[in-house]
Amino acid sequence: MDKIIIRGGNRLHGKVLVSGAKNAALPLICAALLAPGRHRFHNVPSLRDIDTIENLLASLGAQISRGDDLFEIDTTAVDRFEAPYDMVRKMRASVLVLGPLLARFGRARVSLPGGCAIGARPINLHIKGLEAMGAEIELDHGYLNAQAKKLKGARIHLDLPTVGGTENLMMAAALAQGTTVLENAACEPEIVDLARALKSMGAHIEGEGTDTLVIEGVPDLGTLDYRVMPDRIEAGTLMVAAAMTGGDVRIQGMIPQHLKSLIGKLQDAGTEITYEAETVRVRRPRRIEAVDILTLPYPGFPTDMQAQFMALMTLAKGASVITENVFENRFMHVCEMQRLGADITIDGNTAIIKGVKKLLGAPVMATDLRASASLVLCGLAAENTTEVKRIYHLDRGYERLEEKLRRLGADIVRVPE
Ligand code: UD1
Repeated sequence: MDKIIIRGGNRLHGKVLVSGAKNAALPLICAALLAPGRHRFHNVPSLRDIDTIENLLASLGAQISRGDDLFEIDTTAVDRFEAPYDMVRKMRASVLVLGPLLARFGRARVSLPGGCAIGARPINLHIKGLEAMGAEIELDHGYLNAQAKKLKGARIHLDLPTVGGTENLMMAAALAQGTTVLENAACEPEIVDLARALKSMGAHIEGEGTDTLVIEGVPDLGTLDYRVMPDRIEAGTLMVAAAMTGGDVRIQGMIPQHLKSLIGKLQDAGTEITYEAETVRVRRPRRIEAVDILTLPYPGFPTDMQAQFMALMTLAKGASVITENVFENRFMHVCEMQRLGADITIDGNTAIIKGVKKLLGAPVMATDLRASASLVLCGLAAENTTEVKRIYHLDRGYERLEEKLRRLGADIVRVPE
């Protein structure tokens, strides 16, 4: 197991390129299950979560090869239909094989994910939606056994705009008989990316990016040749890194429209953000001001940026309030930030952060993916040395983050623990 050691205090400067989006790549790779043949993806990031989905699809019988910029997957020979507990436990997005398997093969057996570090995270809405489309789903020793001779289009109203649920149901509906209307659907850019990819396979989808998706099923779909969108959460994390260190960083390849809510809050906090030819430049000339945030489904402030924004607020002038509305237990980073000298009080789903003048380096432990990024950010700004342990969480979702930060001038190394 590796840990990251940071000697804080360096201002970041220079240019950095954003990788492909993990949360777009995962459903896209699952979408390859919808049609036999050789699917090609570009800009797939090199991450542990991608390794996990690759192993899962390989265990189903898919053949996969990975080059520098090419991820090829042939799903012709898929003849198994089970997502085992060990994989779903490691990565909840494994449940995204459920919709495609059920739609193409009429059967799937997928472990129930159980809880995780940031909350209960049930998949009841995925199940309810598939049942509305005619699937028979029963629980069998921790597994969902799902069957459907042929899925049928349905009108489905989601109680919550679940991202994974919208993806699973959109994929299933693409091959169902008749029209599916998905109301209160998630609007995240990754949903739009998936809809675009499905359309390139021949799917009939309207309304992506709004809360109502209309999907007219087709009998079969073609193969994919698709470039994954840039990772908005990695881009946001790099923006906060620039702001936290008082740096001057040009971020290349990001799509600013995907991060409007974060950009607005960073500007309110005193960060200067300018749009140049192919980059977004982030500078922070003066002390950070305290700003409140409230996490919400897209286009609201992303829960996946909450911990990183809190890192920034630990050093703000004044007090800020952060309210987490998406996951019920997403403040695990707070105790670790307190070890660095942050002044944070939690009350239910609200954190009150009183900005301090400085953080002092200490050993800390990563508890989940975005929490680990937030601790790295704190380490960049803290005095002396911060050691972030259990860095495998970071490797699930950030491609060579420490290398990117080092090239921007950070004093950061990865060492075996
Ligand atoms: C996705 C992202 C994750 C992000 C989250 C919210 C991927 C691989 N992961 O996760 O990084 O933090 O969106 O933006 O894309 N819920 C239910 N029942 C369900 C489904 C969800 O109650 O059937 C609840 C969850 O417990 C949670 C909320 O809905 O409180 C949002 O979850 P959801 O949008 O489904 O998140 P994921 O797709 O798991």
